[in-house]
Amino acid sequence: MTKTSVLFVCLGNICRSPVAEGVFRDLVAQAGLADRIEIDSAGTGDWHIGRGPDPRSCAVAARHGIDITGLRARQLCRADFARFRFIVAMDASNLADIRAVAPAGHSAEVRMLLDFVPGMEGRPVPDPYYGGPEDFEETYRLARLGCEALLETVRAALAVGAAAEA
Ligand code: 4NP
Repeated sequence: MTKTSVLFVCLGNICRSPVAEGVFRDLVAQAGLADRIEIDSAGTGDWHIGRGPDPRSCAVAARHGIDITGLRARQLCRADFARFRFIVAMDASNLADIRAVAPAGHSAEVRMLLDFVPGMEGRPVPDPYYGGPEDFEETYRLARLGCEALLETVRAALAVGAAAEA
């Protein structure tokens, strides 16, 4: 069975990438693909390692029926570039930080989340950490838009893998 993997990355792994991970897990489960797609999230920074998501991220996810309270922050590491097929940054700063730790010759596809949305290429999921509830709602909205488009790309990658196996 063809499998693939997606790692969502932001700065702290407590605000944006846990929301994206929760939304993507939900979409993948609804699509019946949970056993074919490994999903995780990480931060480029180390300040919040081991902590749960920001309560404001938990609240916005819960408002949309998604429980992310069990997630725990970890830091992006070099081994992630071998473990994950897609490494998905929230903004351009994350992208630069990811590329700075990437081992030479890795084959992960490193992109920003909204690059998967036609017409939104290059747009960030802005950092809501110093913002208010409306900023976390915007995080959720953009995470959902991006994750819906990402799922189509991931489905296509699974189909290509399945065709190659046949
Ligand atoms: P995140 O948000 O990258 O979406 O998890 C942030 C969380 C913490 C900090 C910055 C951004 N911080 O400076 O501690």
